[in-house]
Order: sequence, then C-alpha cells, then structure tokens
Amino acid sequence: MFNIYQTKAGTHSRRIRMPETHPSGGKKLPHPAARAPRIFADTATISEIKPLYQAGVISGVTTNPTLMKKAGAKSWEQAKEMAKELIKLVAPHPVNLELIELTEEGMIKQAQELASWGDNVVIKVPIGGYTAVNPSFDPFTGLKVAHALWQKDIKVNCTLVFNSTQALWAAQAGACYVSPFLGRLADYAYKNDLPERTPGNSLYWIEDHKNEKDDQNVSNSEYVASGGDRKDIGPRLIQEISAIFTNYDIHTEILAASFRNFSQLTECLLAGADILTVPANILQKVADHPLTSEGMKRFYEDSKVFEK
Ligand code: G3P
Repeated sequence: MFNIYQTKAGTHSRRIRMPETHPSGGKKLPHPAARAPRIFADTATISEIKPLYQAGVISGVTTNPTLMKKAGAKSWEQAKEMAKELIKLVAPHPVNLELIELTEEGMIKQAQELASWGDNVVIKVPIGGYTAVNPSFDPFTGLKVAHALWQKDIKVNCTLVFNSTQALWAAQAGACYVSPFLGRLADYAYKNDLPERTPGNSLYWIEDHKNEKDDQNVSNSEYVASGGDRKDIGPRLIQEISAIFTNYDIHTEILAASFRNFSQLTECLLAGADILTVPANILQKVADHPLTSEGMKRFYEDSKVFEK
C-alpha cells in the first residue's frame, strides 16, 4: 500500500551520483535546488509550452502521436516540423519525440533522423505492445530498439510502462528514461475498483467533483491518496521503480507521466520520481492556490495606503 507518511527519501543515495538538475554554473551562490526533480510539459502545443518555459516552470517537453495530433499536426511531415520548432524552442533541454515506425529497422532509422535534429532530442520507444498491433510482430522490438539506440549514443525514453519489471528491462536495455503512466493506471483501477470510495482518495477526485465550478479543493492535501491497494496503484508503481533503481543504483530517470490532478504530483515526488511530465492545464496553475489569491488581494488592498 502506498502511504506518503511511510515513504523514505531513498532516492537520495542514487540521485547524489547523478548529474545535478540545476547546476550553479560557476556562480558564487550555489543553486539551492541543485538536485530537485525536473518538470516537463506533456504537450506538443507551442502556445502552451512557451509561457511555461519562459517562466522556468518546465525544463523539457514530452510528446506522443496523440499530443502531436491534438496540437494540429495532420501529417507526419507536419509533426516533424512541429518537433523541429520544439527542439529549437527549449534547447538545450530535452524534447521527447515518439517513433511511429513499428519494425526494428524502421524504428532505428527513424530515431536516427529525429536525433540528428538536435542534441536535446530524446527518442520515445514503446516498451511493448507490438503484438497487439500485429500478432506477427516481435514482442521484444522495443527492447531491441532501445538497446540499439543506446549503442548509437541516442537517448531513449521507454514509454507505456505499467509495471516495475518493464521499467527494469528498459533500464537494462540502456534507456535513459522510463515513463510509467500513473494516470492511466489510476483510470483502470477506478473503472475496475469495488465501490469503496474512501473520502480523501485522490483517485476519485475528478469524478466526485465533475460538475463543480469552484474547484478550490484541488490544491488541498487531504485529497492525497490514503490507503487501499488498487486505488494507489499509480504512485505505488513509482515507489516500486524508485526502490528497485535505488537498490541497484540504476541511473535511468523515472519520468512519471499521465497526470490527472495536483495530488498526483505530490504523490509522485514523495514516491521518488526524477521527472514529472505534466499537462499544461495543471502546470498553468502551479503558482496559484485559493488562499494565495485571497492573500494577494488583501496585500494589494492594504498597500494602497502607501500610494502617493
Ligand atoms: O506522457 C504520456 C501522456 O501523454 C499520457 O497521458 O493523459 O493520455 O494518459 P494520458
């Protein structure tokens, strides 16, 4: 069971040997969050990414065919143009681009093309599911491609990870990142769960508050998941991968993906994620809280007395 009060900062012993996320770059004042987790934007829409990047909210981008389509790409050619723009916009920070080829040879060739557009390109390789697309496909295509790309010095993010053994095999293949999809796991658990809706369980927040306009409670920590096994399946997966990677000093970064709400961000950080890739609609609100807004309004009103 995932319990935030029992989680230990076990990731530290692993992260301390990994590169700093916010290096001081020769400045006298060291960066106070030199080993903080990185936050990426999970979108391909430039108008969403630009303000978040300029504000320092994100230091990387993840895309996939669904997000490219949502951003307006109507062909692979258009998707490639979009990708080039993203690579330029956030350089030197990573832009994750997913392969659409499905054979080992085709994927390696496509990865080489995408990687040639910038040092900040990371190739997203689906870990498995190949036989679901075509039963004659090789089930190990993803692992073979990830390993071949590691041999070619191309950074890989193994995506569509739903259990810790998939994460381990991705790491062994040489992937720099693994992407566990905690939101989809939570959706799955929600649909298949018994009607045991413990108050305060973040998994049910969206459903329980579906038609509410005033979503003040979204920021409150009482919605952090508490107890139950299947309901906590998302952050528990992150915790499992983190523990395994820490045990064996694996430096593949855990890139938690598929977020549905704020509480899941906290849960993943407590569980030991290295990176969170978050949809823009959640990121746009990270600096706000209903009480922050109320406090600001009051400071503003009271400061009028000082106006000349
Ligand atoms: O980065 C993966 C993410 O885009 C998947 O999110 O919302 O489709 O489960 P979602």
